[in-house]
Amino acid sequence: MGRIERVEEYLRQHGKRFEEEFFDFLRIPSVSSDPKAGDAMDRCARWLLERFTELGLAAELLPTGGWPAIVAETPRREGVRTVLVYGHYDVQPVDPLDLWHSPPFEPRIENGFVYARGATDDKGQSYTHVKAAEAWIRATGNLPVNLIFLLEGEEEIGSPNLESCIRKHLERFRADAVLVSDTSQFGNDLPALCYALRGIAYMEFVVTGANQDLHSGMYGGIVPNPAQVVARVLAEMKTPEGVIAIPGFYDGIIEPADWEREAFQNLPWDLEKMAADLGLSELAGEPGYSVPERKWCRPTLDVNGLFGGYSGEGAKTVIPTRAGAKVSMRLVPGQSPDRIASLFESFVKERIPNACSVEVRSYQNSPAVLIPVDDPAMLAGKEAIARGFGKEPLMVREGASIPVVSFFVDEMHLPVVLLGFGLPDDNLHAPNERFTLKDFHRGILTSAHFMQAYARRKT
Ligand code: BES
Ligand code: MN
Ligand code: MN
Repeated sequence: MGRIERVEEYLRQHGKRFEEEFFDFLRIPSVSSDPKAGDAMDRCARWLLERFTELGLAAELLPTGGWPAIVAETPRREGVRTVLVYGHYDVQPVDPLDLWHSPPFEPRIENGFVYARGATDDKGQSYTHVKAAEAWIRATGNLPVNLIFLLEGEEEIGSPNLESCIRKHLERFRADAVLVSDTSQFGNDLPALCYALRGIAYMEFVVTGANQDLHSGMYGGIVPNPAQVVARVLAEMKTPEGVIAIPGFYDGIIEPADWEREAFQNLPWDLEKMAADLGLSELAGEPGYSVPERKWCRPTLDVNGLFGGYSGEGAKTVIPTRAGAKVSMRLVPGQSPDRIASLFESFVKERIPNACSVEVRSYQNSPAVLIPVDDPAMLAGKEAIARGFGKEPLMVREGASIPVVSFFVDEMHLPVVLLGFGLPDDNLHAPNERFTLKDFHRGILTSAHFMQAYARRKT
């Protein structure tokens, strides 16, 4: 038996145990945005640490200033390529809890899916690489590449500490390529290799009027209304057609290449089904652009939350003292998140009446990224998917963000291979998040093949 055959045999024999371990991982409620999750975050990090130590890797918890990251390395052999595997063990909050069909941290299997928070994003997907490494080590004695795992606990809150932490250990993270599984397949049985992510600038503004809530009959007409100020400012941010009206917002955008536009059209889109699945009569978006362009290559501005005034049962006559909005803007190559944040801030501040005050805050902030598609690591990614899924991947962009990826590409000059094993309808960030066990196993197989394909590939 050749080496890869022994690896494959190992995967067949140990697949059931891998699932059990994965479920243990899912049982730890590692919600990074919850300040009370400290105990779970530490347990989760240590649980991973043990998995790596068991495998014989040199592993440790890396303090970041926030939740810890785990770093685990195989011995560095010269003349062998090094792959940095990145993923995140933190998960999104579970609310609204009443819409879950079973408790989010008690994995439940149904129809080949495992349901739990983090199943696909990103515990299931990132764990595939850990098990692929195990198979190589146990079945053959070593790996075809050097591996460095970096699993962080703050991705879902924008990775605020990771970059500075990597900078402090640059020598340690020296690698030839980065491998990440935190994106999706294009659709069922349509595996994809992703080469671009949008960035994000997430803002909040809060408008304050009088120093207390007021009777709308006694004071209506003589005081400003913060809720209406918020509504007006938000309305002015976009034309009725859906074009963003913040001056300078679209400056410097790098348009997709011709080959991309053509490739987008050749992907198996079913836009009617997409709308119908969402309960919409039709999709909406910026005039003059196709759906793939709108979703992947155009920036957006979306209200994510709106608060202020009375929203309980029935009527209450009140002018709120305060109102605000949370707004996310998805960014594309050529846009600087800092510049967009400051354009947003000025736009808001210029529109606040004298009688009110405003506070503008910036949260997550990360640039878009474009990954060169002809790097040997990308070609190895294609080959690996062909082996693991039995078909060539579709080349896609994604509209969402993974903040640290632009740091790997633009600052460390590394190719990042985004192998998405999940499905677009795995309910990530939503109730009843899930992952198919089939994709979990195909992911492990794909990862194992990636290591071999990348080790062998000359160009
Ligand atoms: N794994 C997702 C990103 C993703 C989802 C990529 C689907 C491709 C397809 C990641 O965990 C995520 O949720 N990112 C956040 C980042 C934000 C918190 C800074 C996002 O995009 O909202
Ligand atoms: Mn993720
Ligand atoms: Mn996520």
